[in-house]
Amino acid sequence: MADNEWKEVAKTDDIESGAFTSVELSEEESVLLVRQGTELHAWEDSCTHVGCPLSFGHLADGVLICPCHNARFDATTGAMMSPPALDDLARYDVREEDGRVYVGGRHEATFKKPQGHDKRTVAIIGGGAAGGMAAEQLRREGFAGRIVMVTPEEQGPYDRPLLSKFYLASDMGPEDIALRPASFYEKMEIELWTGRRATAVDAGAKRVTLDDGSELTADAVVLATGSRAKALPVPGVDLGGVHMLRSVGDAAAIRADAAEAQNVVVIGASFIGTEAAAYLRGRGLDVTVTAPESVPFEKAFGPEVGARFESMHRDQGVAFELGTGVSRIRGSKRVESVELANGTVLPADLVVIGVGAEPVVDYLEGSGLLEDGAVPVDGFMQTGSPGVYAVGDIARVGGGSDSGAGNSTGEAKRVEHWVVAQRHGRQVARSIMGTREPLEFAPFFWTRQFETSFGYIGYAPRYEEIRYKGDVAAGKFLAGYFENGILKAVGTIGKGKTAVRYGLLLDAGREITAEQFEAGLSSIGA
Ligand code: FES
Repeated sequence: MADNEWKEVAKTDDIESGAFTSVELSEEESVLLVRQGTELHAWEDSCTHVGCPLSFGHLADGVLICPCHNARFDATTGAMMSPPALDDLARYDVREEDGRVYVGGRHEATFKKPQGHDKRTVAIIGGGAAGGMAAEQLRREGFAGRIVMVTPEEQGPYDRPLLSKFYLASDMGPEDIALRPASFYEKMEIELWTGRRATAVDAGAKRVTLDDGSELTADAVVLATGSRAKALPVPGVDLGGVHMLRSVGDAAAIRADAAEAQNVVVIGASFIGTEAAAYLRGRGLDVTVTAPESVPFEKAFGPEVGARFESMHRDQGVAFELGTGVSRIRGSKRVESVELANGTVLPADLVVIGVGAEPVVDYLEGSGLLEDGAVPVDGFMQTGSPGVYAVGDIARVGGGSDSGAGNSTGEAKRVEHWVVAQRHGRQVARSIMGTREPLEFAPFFWTRQFETSFGYIGYAPRYEEIRYKGDVAAGKFLAGYFENGILKAVGTIGKGKTAVRYGLLLDAGREITAEQFEAGLSSIGA
């Protein structure tokens, strides 16, 4: 539609205050009309993450929440408030006349490198979810100084969750999963130092030593080194055809071997393992998943949800050997089989190991920043050393009385999830720029396997009780995870909108009992 064209799309009375509605401009283009008080706004009805319709989502307190992966947008400004979306919403001109609503031209949301003289340098050590978000959010917040992002990878930030999903089943290249094209970092004047890693940090001097012997001194240092895949301590892990899955190089190597393979053994039945199994099965390979648990995700989500994942995989032809460990991986130069602790031998010409991750913090030994293998920070991502921040998987956030951690329990949390790391990146940039707002949203993550998405909102590592609403076996349910009788997290397949509403209550620190959960949202006035 041309800039100067207006199209009548709705009646004024159709859109109440605090509500939204989607209208079609054409077969391909929908617009979300949102009334906030007396103001009417028109936004693209397509989340800037991967395009889910926001009209299927939720509007609460002036915030639009995407139903797919919980990105949040300010309903008044269109600004991205929470990843995994990176960009603000495109805006449409909108006007009301004689009881009718008209929509006009579309305006893309863009931002530019701020101008001005700022002699400060921010060094970001790590180029993953948290580091990448920190760099670009600094520019959004108006930081005009120097930004250096150091990454051991050969490219800038990319969409790591895709590696164990579509990437394995497709012929995507590394550039297809880049979060931003290389030109973005050039335009934003974000220096990408690829192929380098930190070896030491002098926190007091805000100085980082790199593996080529060079040193980087900055006004603010953001430690964002993330995790590495945990090793499996059994003989044979060095054989050809045996892979971990963490980097784009790992995924490319798995894909290359998958082209020649028929029998795949996946060791580990958590996210990486089950996702890799699903997508390799999607390539027509014979896949067996083995793990010590009795069902996938047993500890994280409970046996019923785990059984649902297992039956979904079995229906698609994935085999399981559960309740046993791996003794060794056999072969001469390349893998030929996997021997399990129960004596079973599984033929294999490709093995994917997904037995967890551990934070990359070796370079922080002796820095005074480490505590129990992680870096304690407050809710503004500040370590105990002024001007040094930590974000993402290595950061243990909150726990103090004035932590700014913001959400329901106030306890210190170290969470290894993509969206949480991105939120940390956004938070640290705002913190460096002087904004003191709490990290307000409950953790969120999702997995997608065989066209089924499971979403989880909250933090319940020590849950004692699970209550279910809906039918877990049928794959449409909401699970509530309780500790000391209070709801700490919800997990869902097929009830994302309801889960979002519980997530908002968790954000607000509401204490919801199992009985209230059973009675439903209306019983607690939500
Ligand atoms: Fe909206 Fe992913 S499509 S958060």
